[in-house]
Amino acid sequence: DSSSSSSSSLPSILLAGPSSAGKTALLTLFEKRAGRRTTTTATDAIAGPSQTHTSQTPVSVELNAAQSSDEDKLKKFLLVDTPGHPKLRSTSLRHILPLDPKTGKPLPPNKAPNKIKGVVFMVDASTLAPSSPDSSLSQAATYLYDLLLALQHRYSRYSKGSKHPPTIPVLIAANKLDLFTALPATLVKKELEAELGRIRVSRSKGLLDSGVREDDVTGEKEEGDDWLGEYGSDRFEFKQMLEFDIEVEVVGGSVVGGEGPGVEGWWKWVVQRV
Ligand code: GTP
Ligand code: MG
Repeated sequence: DSSSSSSSSLPSILLAGPSSAGKTALLTLFEKRAGRRTTTTATDAIAGPSQTHTSQTPVSVELNAAQSSDEDKLKKFLLVDTPGHPKLRSTSLRHILPLDPKTGKPLPPNKAPNKIKGVVFMVDASTLAPSSPDSSLSQAATYLYDLLLALQHRYSRYSKGSKHPPTIPVLIAANKLDLFTALPATLVKKELEAELGRIRVSRSKGLLDSGVREDDVTGEKEEGDDWLGEYGSDRFEFKQMLEFDIEVEVVGGSVVGGEGPGVEGWWKWVVQRV
């Protein structure tokens, strides 16, 4: 598809998360600071700083990790914005477990591309509290569960003996900390871990079904494949993902609103990984 573009060989960071988390707003901000658009596959091209409509297709921008004006030191990477709508989430999961365009089957381990260097999973911290009137916790956690499970499956599928695929760390970007209802990063972590634990129990009992599952994407399903993290553990904790070489970190920030903590923490994380 985009193989004609030279930028497709660049290391990339996947930007995922539920609708309205602020993904496109972040992409727009990064682009203004350090980037240029390379692939515009979207019909809803980004028009200005206050992007308020829902994304329907992935958009990539090419960014420079180095902030020095010395051209030699420029380190280019792609930031890939994906839609958060439940029906379109398979686009981001496909980046992690890609399909062979010819056969439609999962790519064999030796063909799997390795250029994704990290995933930024953005959530709206201002609506994440379970007591919030329109709590986004369940939506966010359902998506995060599927994403982490896809990474867990990638680890097992693409491991050969003691040789494992290049790690893809996850940054949970707790956004909108400029708003007074926002939970701090520590609480965002706690609420997500608790909710992921509940989803894990429900799914193991076959009670709950999510919108788009990774097995819808790959067409493959194995018995007992849906358990995230340490098997049989009581509580889910992000550190359980280390067993699959997946580092998960939660960092707070804000894309808009001068009062907030800004995007520096996320930018630093991204720059270290590309
Ligand atoms: P989808 O494309 O539907 O997946 O959503 P998205 O994650 O791309 O969200 P988008 O960037 O379109 O932002 C949704 C709304 O949140 C917009 O109105 C943004 O202006 C607003 N927003 C984004 N970041 C912040 C923030 O840090 N603080 C506040 N107060 N609002 C924000
Ligand atoms: Mg968007």
